[in-house]
Amino acid sequence: MEIFHIAAECYPVAKVGGLGDVVGALPKYQNYTKHLVRVVIPCYDTKFIKENEFETVHNDYVKLGNFNFPFNVLKEKTDKLGFELYLVNIPELFDRKEVYGYEDDIERFLAFQIATLDWFISRTEVPDVINCHDHHTGLIPFMMQYAIKYEKLSNTSTVITIHNSIYQGQFGFDKLYYLPDFDLSKVTILEWDNRINSLATAIKCASAVTTVSPNYLNEINNFAYGLESLFNLVRHKSKGILNGIDIEVWNPVKDKLIEKKYSIKDFAKGKQENKEKLCSQFDLDPTKPLFSFIGRLLEEKGADLLPHASALALSENFKEINILILGSGNTEIENQLNHLLTSFKGNYNVFIGYNEELAHLIYAGSDFLLMPSRVEPCGLNQMYSFKYGTIPIVRRTGGLKDTVIDFEDYGNGICHDQASIADVCYSILRAIKLYKDKKSLNKIRKIGMNIDHSWESVCQEYIEVYNLIIKKNES
Ligand code: GLC
Repeated sequence: MEIFHIAAECYPVAKVGGLGDVVGALPKYQNYTKHLVRVVIPCYDTKFIKENEFETVHNDYVKLGNFNFPFNVLKEKTDKLGFELYLVNIPELFDRKEVYGYEDDIERFLAFQIATLDWFISRTEVPDVINCHDHHTGLIPFMMQYAIKYEKLSNTSTVITIHNSIYQGQFGFDKLYYLPDFDLSKVTILEWDNRINSLATAIKCASAVTTVSPNYLNEINNFAYGLESLFNLVRHKSKGILNGIDIEVWNPVKDKLIEKKYSIKDFAKGKQENKEKLCSQFDLDPTKPLFSFIGRLLEEKGADLLPHASALALSENFKEINILILGSGNTEIENQLNHLLTSFKGNYNVFIGYNEELAHLIYAGSDFLLMPSRVEPCGLNQMYSFKYGTIPIVRRTGGLKDTVIDFEDYGNGICHDQASIADVCYSILRAIKLYKDKKSLNKIRKIGMNIDHSWESVCQEYIEVYNLIIKKNES
């Protein structure tokens, strides 16, 4: 089977969040199953593109309304990623520092989708399956079916994988002329709530819809930022598949980015050495439990609770715990977190930014990982955390509910129900108590370390979905 994943991010070339991790790992493990799996993303910030690592495989202009933008497709040729990576390079729209956040994001990602399909129809082979990810690629299934120039692709099966339904890629009908000519009787398919909605269009047109955890699929049937009734309509072609993690990258046994490698046999000692390194780097106390947070500082992740919850936990239990935060996002949250530095020196620290290397050391050296998410379609951090013997403290939502069970229910972590300061602090108190009972603490750590969340064991579920839709298409 020839499969293309099309997305906005792919680790290690472009990563903002978990989407990048998934698109950088799932294809590799699908390739191991003897399928030909390739990835297409936009080419951002060309100064990072090394000429000896990429070759041009296609050159053209992409038409967006009245504009024609030159583009080329670059193929990564070193084979180091475990799959073929193609970068669609439209310099005028993408040669910028950030992945998202520009006023013309709609135009950028539309041009990317059109350029990708233009390139596909220039190839002799037609892929068997195109797996789109999130709204940035959401108009692809529609264009493949109804745009006149993509007729060649109209029988190819498509999947839309939803990593987060908050972001839907909506825009006004005044931009309809950007789309390549299509069967106008189908125009209503593009519409949701009086606007063109990229994610809703993908959900309607794709041969199958997947979400990144089974519980998230249940949740969005009740609440999905206006798309719930649509999700109810497509239940017959939807499946929740829990994400996996890349254990070639996230594994304390062979992780070169941590201070001391360790396995389940010697984790207590190994974790302590990593903790000491981390604590000396961030002026924390290695004899006290260390609570960390890693991720985007957004309300969606419950990061707005961190400044107050940290202040409360540190003042009531001052010197009894350490808190370390790594992330960036909302400036107000960043400022509030920075503000705590003077009050809790020696027990609290924050690193504003994105730092993959430091994230590894934090998983290895922390005792607990805070995830008070309001929305968490899957969540990968709790799975990384398990692998490194760090106990996740999560709000029961989305994929967190699928993966973390409270230790009092013989599980692997600490759970709370509300995204509230009180619930976070109460969980921290429970964790402090657990930390003092080393026997139970280590038992729970071991339970987590023994869980297999590798892609190896779940990537087959995607292949099953592909097989099913190909069969349906043929019959
Ligand atoms: C998004 C979701 C997160 C998920 C990730 C990968 O970032 O918010 O929950 O784990 O995508 O699917």
